[in-house]
Amino acid sequence: MAETLILPQTQDRRVIYDGLVPQIASLVNGEPDLIANLANSVAALKEAFGFFWIGFYLVKDNQLVLGPFQGPIACTRINYGRGVCGTAWAKGETIIVPDVDAFPGHIVCSSASKSEIVVPVFNQAGDVTMVLDIDSNQLNDFSDVDAEGLARIVALLR
Ligand code: SME
Repeated sequence: MAETLILPQTQDRRVIYDGLVPQIASLVNGEPDLIANLANSVAALKEAFGFFWIGFYLVKDNQLVLGPFQGPIACTRINYGRGVCGTAWAKGETIIVPDVDAFPGHIVCSSASKSEIVVPVFNQAGDVTMVLDIDSNQLNDFSDVDAEGLARIVALLR
């Protein structure tokens, strides 16, 4: 596909995800390099939504290690069960945090981050191999619409 995203002119995130998912599918289709695909996916999400921080953490040697991201520098390693990312990994489920200050053990990478969503990515065997972490500088910025849209996107990236 052409390396230009076509984004609907709307604030309706459901419509934006509907427009984005097939374009990310085209971007990664036929490209076997995981890092290239993760890098383009976070760039597409940044362009579509402008979130403060968007990135992947990859499971390596029983830790989450920072992968491709868009935004300010961030912590490099997160232990199993620690922070929002490590908790989403341990539970194997998406976590939406409306107010990061109210999440016990939240790992602060930037004081500008106010709310967060973390979506685990599974391999064919059902193991978590990565998490997608998105931070917003607005409180309560994520809903089930994001959880569903992002789940569709990470399903393209296993
Ligand atoms: N807040 C995350 C850490 C990663 S940064 O937000 C980029 C957490 O609690 O796991």
